[in-house]
Amino acid sequence: MNQPLYTIPGAPAEASVAAPLSGAPPARTVAEVLRESQVESVMDELDRDLVGLAPVKQRIRDIAALLVIDKLRLNLGLAAQSPSLHMSFTGNPGTGKTTVAMRMAQILHRLGYVRKGHLIAVTRDDLVGQYIGHTAPKTREVLKKAMGGVLFIDEAYYLYRPENERDYGQEAIEILLQVMENQRDDLVVILAGYRDRMDTFFKSNPGLSSRIAHHLDFPDYPHGELLAIGDRMLADMHYRFGPGGREAFGEYLTLRLAQPHFANARSVRNALDRMRLRQASRLFADREREFTREDLTTLAPSDIRASRVFSDAQS
Ligand SMILES: Nc1ncnc2c1ncn2[C@@H]1O[C@H](COP(=O)(O)OP(=O)(O)OP(=O)(O)O)[C@@H](O)[C@H]1O
Ligand SMILES: [Mg+2]
Repeated sequence: MNQPLYTIPGAPAEASVAAPLSGAPPARTVAEVLRESQVESVMDELDRDLVGLAPVKQRIRDIAALLVIDKLRLNLGLAAQSPSLHMSFTGNPGTGKTTVAMRMAQILHRLGYVRKGHLIAVTRDDLVGQYIGHTAPKTREVLKKAMGGVLFIDEAYYLYRPENERDYGQEAIEILLQVMENQRDDLVVILAGYRDRMDTFFKSNPGLSSRIAHHLDFPDYPHGELLAIGDRMLADMHYRFGPGGREAFGEYLTLRLAQPHFANARSVRNALDRMRLRQASRLFADREREFTREDLTTLAPSDIRASRVFSDAQS
């Protein structure tokens, strides 16, 4: 097969990994690399900001360790091909895939694996054209934007449509494959989506599957973690539960978990947004009162129990 070789412009000639900062002597210890790259603060934030996800956090630490040691090896002249860091993130909606991908981009950047550390999130429609000849330029344009960072392809399995005899998705996949292989030192591709559909997708696309070095699975959050996620989100927004509020929210979650279309942390965020709306309406009715900080930050049990989830459960 005589395929054109796609190279996406953008990568600098000199490898950023090897360059020590501002003429300083090259790092010789793990501590020196960590200090120079300031990568630990991102990893600490990840640990602190995200509830649960222990296996995901561990994998990220492992990847960071690999890159740190690679840097030390490089500083002693032990050059090796950069490791392939393309990944798949599988899990249900709202399990933290996009959030973790953004942190990953920062970590890869701080460790010098990619130049910029930004994340471009796309789906099939951003890559695949509707007419002949439209797909390659579209895919290349996206890749160009993503160079130096992370290309996050959500619901990646939609790229492959076996039912269509000639689907343009295949063309996008072929371009991706080449760039994933040839420019992997400046672009990390993360394919995300539901676990089972992703498994099927990889089975039909062994070329793609074999280029994915890390499979990270994002499990659904159990009740206790959802509650902790709620606490964290509220604190970030300068709200808190008043007396009995947290218990009410715990009950809310139990009921909501039993209903269809529950989307993990995303549903927690949406629920809290609706509760803030009810709090605002409650306060709004009190025209003459001068609100204290406490009034303005507190979600009362009634703000939570007015949810339809409670009334639906009774009917
Ligand atoms: N472990 C966590 N701790 C705290 N907040 C979280 C956690 N996981 C997700 N969130 C928050 O939940 C929201 C949804 O997360 P995110 O968008 O990363 O999920 P996703 O897996 O990409 O979902 P989707 O498949 O719907 O795109 C975000 O606001 C994120 O900050
Ligand atoms: Mg997402």
